[in-house]
Amino acid sequence: MSFRYLGNKTKLSEWIVGEISRVIPAGSSIADPMCGTASVSLALAQAGYSVTAADALAFPVIHARSRLLAKQAPAFKAFGGYDRALNWLRSIPPTEGYFFREFGNAGSPANGRQPRLYFSASNAARIDGIRESIRDLARSGAISKLEHSLLLHSLILSTNKIANISGTYGYFLKELSKNAHQAITFEPLHFEQTPGNHSVVLGTIEEHASSICADAVYLDPPYTKRQYAGNYHILETLAQEDEPIAQGDGGLRPWEKQASDFCYRRSAGKAFRKTLEQLSAPHVFISYSQDGQVHEDELLAILNDFGKVTIHEKLHNRYRSNNKAKEGILLERLYHVEKY
Ligand SMILES: C[S@@+](CC[C@H](N)C(=O)[O-])C[C@H]1O[C@@H](n2cnc3c(N)ncnc32)[C@H](O)[C@@H]1O
Repeated sequence: MSFRYLGNKTKLSEWIVGEISRVIPAGSSIADPMCGTASVSLALAQAGYSVTAADALAFPVIHARSRLLAKQAPAFKAFGGYDRALNWLRSIPPTEGYFFREFGNAGSPANGRQPRLYFSASNAARIDGIRESIRDLARSGAISKLEHSLLLHSLILSTNKIANISGTYGYFLKELSKNAHQAITFEPLHFEQTPGNHSVVLGTIEEHASSICADAVYLDPPYTKRQYAGNYHILETLAQEDEPIAQGDGGLRPWEKQASDFCYRRSAGKAFRKTLEQLSAPHVFISYSQDGQVHEDELLAILNDFGKVTIHEKLHNRYRSNNKAKEGILLERLYHVEKY
């Protein structure tokens, strides 16, 4: 599952899990409480760990539930199997609803602005039809919680492929791109039979840190000022299955209550300290970039107050395009804190 997501560790997960496995053996338990796409959670599960994943936002929780808990295709008894559930998703007729109105290129946003070009009109109406059908099906009790998550997971992945954006949903492109003109499609998901006992919860690290009971914790906080709740508002709306007021030109859902302290220079250091104070696991691993909101000296000073710190480093290419590769080289750091 590749997914354009700020700070996605898919390409670094082998390195991260390799470093973790030098310290705690496979079979141990580990928490990934800022799991995002759940790429590290899944890599840890594949390496034999029991993983507890969490995130402050709802759509990462949908990804984590689908990737960790669905070890094989669920029964989908309501349809007579997973393949039929997928065919059902593909065949749902379009409806001109909230997505069509607020985010489609032939829409008429409630605040009176010009149509927002996040999606072609036909894809926006397909998304509306699918959202409504999944919601009705879940309310009818015909599918399990995990089956419900899998349908939303598929919808989010498929929506990402035809969204008319460059990277995040902070704004849309001026013209519909080639991808955005393509009709939304649904590919079969790949299920992983991993050995551990996994669990997934929704909530902030501030809420959960003191109740995490694991041999180790892997923290991957935001390191730039870009708030995930605003930059991925459309995915959050798909996961929350609601119809929030689409504010301003970009149509963002009200996200301020979900703002992360890790994104502000003034509060990020305190957020690290507060989190470390509450964690009881003997080992804490932290991914943090060289150019994060907390300067490397400050972060090291904070971590040194909690345990013995070891730093692992890897050069990482920020951009895909070769001609920009040079300016995009980042030094990715993995801090290991062995708590006092
Ligand atoms: C750098 S991303 C994680 C990327 C992830 N490791 C991956 O590979 O996709 C940071 C994540 O932290 C989440 N987040 C931000 N503040 C948080 C908080 N206070 N508690 C829990 N999660 C938070 C964001 O929603 C985002 O998904």
